[in-house]
Amino acid sequence: MRSARLMKVFVTRRIPPEGRALLAGAAESLGKVRNRSGPSDSWQGLWGLFLNGTPPASLAKRFCEVEQWDSDEPIPRKELERGVAGAHGLLCLLTEQVDRTLLDAAGANLKVISTMSVGVDHLALDEIKKRGIRVGYTPDVLTDATAELAVSLLLTTCRRLPEAIEEVKNGGWTAWKPLWMCGHGLTQSTVGIIGLGRIGQAIARRLKPFGVQRFLYSGRQPRPQEAAEFQAEFVPTSYLAAESDFIVVSCSLTPATKGLCNKDFFQRMKNTAVLVNISRGDVVNQDDLYQALASGQIAAAGLDVTTPEPLPTNHPLLTLKNCVILPHIGSATHGTRNTMSLLASNNLLAGLRGEPMPSELKL
Ligand code: NDP
Ligand code: DGY
Repeated sequence: MRSARLMKVFVTRRIPPEGRALLAGAAESLGKVRNRSGPSDSWQGLWGLFLNGTPPASLAKRFCEVEQWDSDEPIPRKELERGVAGAHGLLCLLTEQVDRTLLDAAGANLKVISTMSVGVDHLALDEIKKRGIRVGYTPDVLTDATAELAVSLLLTTCRRLPEAIEEVKNGGWTAWKPLWMCGHGLTQSTVGIIGLGRIGQAIARRLKPFGVQRFLYSGRQPRPQEAAEFQAEFVPTSYLAAESDFIVVSCSLTPATKGLCNKDFFQRMKNTAVLVNISRGDVVNQDDLYQALASGQIAAAGLDVTTPEPLPTNHPLLTLKNCVILPHIGSATHGTRNTMSLLASNNLLAGLRGEPMPSELKL
């Protein structure tokens, strides 16, 4: 039984060590931090093992009890609804749909939702706002890692690295041939960035030294201050599609960006152009992308995000040589994920204390 004065926190996944340590320290005692990874009758007090029995001394006064779904795999929806019931704080990931049903399951106690992501498209923000719940998220700390991955994916795709590696293995490499395995290079190119936000700028910053001649960007409104560093031109999305040699999608997923890269968009693109998406799968219409890639309407695509995730292994896009697909690993460096977990935990605890969060989403 939870003591009446303790607030309940529910964590939907096993999170990296720094975030776990912070939450464990904020819990009233190790015995009050429970992990579960199976049916709700199989509770285990694993936080004690993790912390070697000694919570960090410097941590703030303990005021909550923490329950965690102790698995690397997503929590089943039923367990999530059961686990969140009565919680004051929820620490979730982008894999959990925080919709009206879940908010109802949580009940009136819920005051803070902290997501270990910068993307918030899995949160029903209107409903959350209506209920006066505060939201924490993790901008900035993952920008470098994600931009690095975007550039890796772009180079991998435009220089056809997976195909080339496969040819070495399967005997397709018979000799050095002038026309074999040629791709498209960045020198003198035009790069179009859909969403010149934190990550979009970090991508442009990394691509500039490759000899990009011109940057274009699109969004809801011009961002002259941010664009100045790259002399980037604010243009309509249709113009960006038509003029760019490389298009990087780095916007947030909203009703306005859902399906933005569709048949019409691909028809405007050059047939030598390459699309890279690190945003969310739903920004791209995948059926239209398949047609564009299979028919040679565009040269190639690199996707770090898809719909659904994971992409079924029999998905048509996986049959194409000119489509490189990664399993949503933009922020996946050890350091970044640790920092994200720490920020998410700090956001949660600050919210529960009624203090300003390090990174609060303005609703
Ligand atoms: P920001 O809020 O800094 O940037 C979001 C960008 O989206 C802004 O430039 C905004 O432009 C743009 N945008 C919003 N609406 C539209 C629109 N209708 N048309 C075009 N652009 C639009 O966020 P971050 O850069 O930090 O993150 C961006 C996204 O990247 C996240 O929301 C997430 O989905 C994704 N992401 C993916 C990762 C991965 O692992 N693959 C890792 C991290 C993030 P403006 O305001 O000027 O309209
Ligand atoms: C995010 O944070 O939105 C990413 O997709 C995962 O880091």
